[in-house]
Amino acid sequence: MTREDYAKEVELIRQRHSVRVYKADKIEAEKVEKLNAKIKELNEQGNLNLQLIEDAGKTYSLLLNRTMGLGSAPSVIACVGPDGADLDERLGYYGEQLVLFAQSLGLNTCWTGMFNRKHVPAEIKEGEKLVICIAIGYGETAGKERKTKSMQDVTTVIGDKPQWLDLHLPAGNRLNQCLRVLRFCMS
Ligand SMILES: Cc1cc2nc3c(=O)[nH]c(=O)nc-3n(C[C@H](O)[C@H](O)[C@H](O)COP(=O)(O)O)c2cc1C
Repeated sequence: MTREDYAKEVELIRQRHSVRVYKADKIEAEKVEKLNAKIKELNEQGNLNLQLIEDAGKTYSLLLNRTMGLGSAPSVIACVGPDGADLDERLGYYGEQLVLFAQSLGLNTCWTGMFNRKHVPAEIKEGEKLVICIAIGYGETAGKERKTKSMQDVTTVIGDKPQWLDLHLPAGNRLNQCLRVLRFCMS
């Protein structure tokens, strides 16, 4: 990855926030095609079976989903792969690349561990597992920046500040938030 590509990715990380309330607009065919091409690439790289389901159907029909607004998500990405010890990790790694790609297309997303498992219209082959879903569509808003620690809170620089720090730290700080959410969800 070039330095320029990396900077673009960090900018997408800065821009992206979870969105739970969506407009009724469907994702245009041209963007569906781009998403499917990216999914094919990521599935090959990660040995996964990520699937874009254009009609989310009853995926978010649980009361809590509807209360949060997620029932409005027009489409969903089913995060599926061959069951195994590192499946969660690979889905997280490649799935995050997919949500950032979606962000670059002007779409909004939300990782969701809570969904109506019986009603996700995904293809799950023998030996595969559906781990998590990602709501996707055009958000009513672009989402909100979550309260996070300041650069000063998370860094102690002794001597001159290295140039790369300003570039890497925002991404690292967002990751820290995600890990906190993960701990919360898993506890
Ligand atoms: C494993 C996992 C499962 C999650 N499940 C849900 C969920 O079911 N519903 C929900 O509203 N948010 C869920 N979240 C939280 C959001 O996807 C998101 O990570 C969090 O709100 C941080 O938002 P931000 O990216 O805007 O900072 C989950 C997060 C993780 C990491």
